[in-house]
Amino acid sequence: MPAAVSIHGQWSTRLAFVLAATGSAVGLGNVWRFPYIVGDNGGGAFVLVYLLCILMIGLPIMMAEILLGRLGRQSPINTMLTVSRAEGLSRGWGLMGWIGVLAGFLILSFYSVIAGWALAYVFKAGSGGFTGLDAEGSSEMFGAMLANPEALLAWHTIFMVMTAMVVARGVRSGLERAVTILMPALVVLLVILVGYAMAHGDFLGGLAFLLRPDFSALSANAVLLAMGQAFFTLSLGMGAIMVYGSYLSSEASIARASAAVVASDTLVALLAGLAIFPILLAAGLSPGQGPGLIFVTLPLAFAEMPLGLFFGTLFFVLLVFAAWTSAISLIEPAVAFLVENLGLSRVFATTLVAMLAWLLGIAALLSLNVWSGFTLFDKGVLDLLDYVTANILLPLGGFLIAIFVGWRMSQSSVMNELRLRNMRAFRVWFFLVRYLAPTAIVVVFLRAVGVI
Ligand code: PHE
Repeated sequence: MPAAVSIHGQWSTRLAFVLAATGSAVGLGNVWRFPYIVGDNGGGAFVLVYLLCILMIGLPIMMAEILLGRLGRQSPINTMLTVSRAEGLSRGWGLMGWIGVLAGFLILSFYSVIAGWALAYVFKAGSGGFTGLDAEGSSEMFGAMLANPEALLAWHTIFMVMTAMVVARGVRSGLERAVTILMPALVVLLVILVGYAMAHGDFLGGLAFLLRPDFSALSANAVLLAMGQAFFTLSLGMGAIMVYGSYLSSEASIARASAAVVASDTLVALLAGLAIFPILLAAGLSPGQGPGLIFVTLPLAFAEMPLGLFFGTLFFVLLVFAAWTSAISLIEPAVAFLVENLGLSRVFATTLVAMLAWLLGIAALLSLNVWSGFTLFDKGVLDLLDYVTANILLPLGGFLIAIFVGWRMSQSSVMNELRLRNMRAFRVWFFLVRYLAPTAIVVVFLRAVGVI
């Protein structure tokens, strides 16, 4: 029988879980990745598909993933083995946990590089580097940073050490407290930025870009990107949410917690979009700036805004914190597994995983400069890591979760753990997990590779 409490500890309150899961979900995916892929893929129609994926695939799979974690109460690999055994299913499902651990490790490697950009910008902002900046100067500043491998390495290293330090300390200390203060602060700052965009940017233009759907601009590949972004931003499909679920007390309502996490995450992404596109359009920049989008656009706003030095610095500080609370959840599954199976100490396990991800991160940051000539499928290492994890590994993980919970587990175990009192709500959720989510994932995959 699975244990009632995880050996790694438990969240002190239900709210702590919601905050930690929100901390995992809200990160670079919302503020950095969402605006830039929306920009690259033509706006409104993409946003609409993204929102549909969040609601119809993301939310139900998040509930399924938390449910599994709380049942198994261990790292994703052992959770899958334990739940499979309890349900009389094949041990092969343990593989799902392995895919997740791999995905988390790959994501962390490039995530830390991008978080390093944000760290660098804290200091650029703080030292007045944005003062008097115009669109061209801002692009140059960003380009100069990418061209400097030593600087990128230094920031990447600092971020990875910060991440490892928190994870090494365990579930409760530090992390819980940090998210309680920092997440609301990030939302407030984004609202201030949206206010600035309303007053000084091309707000209506930005709004139209985000919301007016032009389906002719939407390729099959863009649909895959929208779905990938939904998984990425909600931290789904790799065991982060599962392992956080394993520290959740048995009384908490999974549905309510999931809804809160999904709603906050979506709010932050939309606020980021509303802040960025009006400023971008007013500056005459094109939305298709790629991964540099926020780093090129936002300094323009801070350059002009009253107290821009203060707000600019604060914004990048909060972005670093948002990235930090996400990065922590990226290595937690691997660390929990090493502690459980090899009996390593938490500190040692964390050091090991962080070091490996750090090494791969170096390849990612070199792909921005020294190795920029080296590409695979037309992508450098960093782009490739980002593309493969978000668009293939995470949806694959989500697909397997949906199949496991929707088709392989007994319905009574699922109902017992979910404890949705409203039968109709249960049926809707079960339908989404059993039929809609897996079918949608397969169809989107097949269309993107051109089979259908
Ligand atoms: N959801 C995080 C973000 O939006 C990234 C992440 C992905 C974290 C997968 C954990 C697992 O930045």
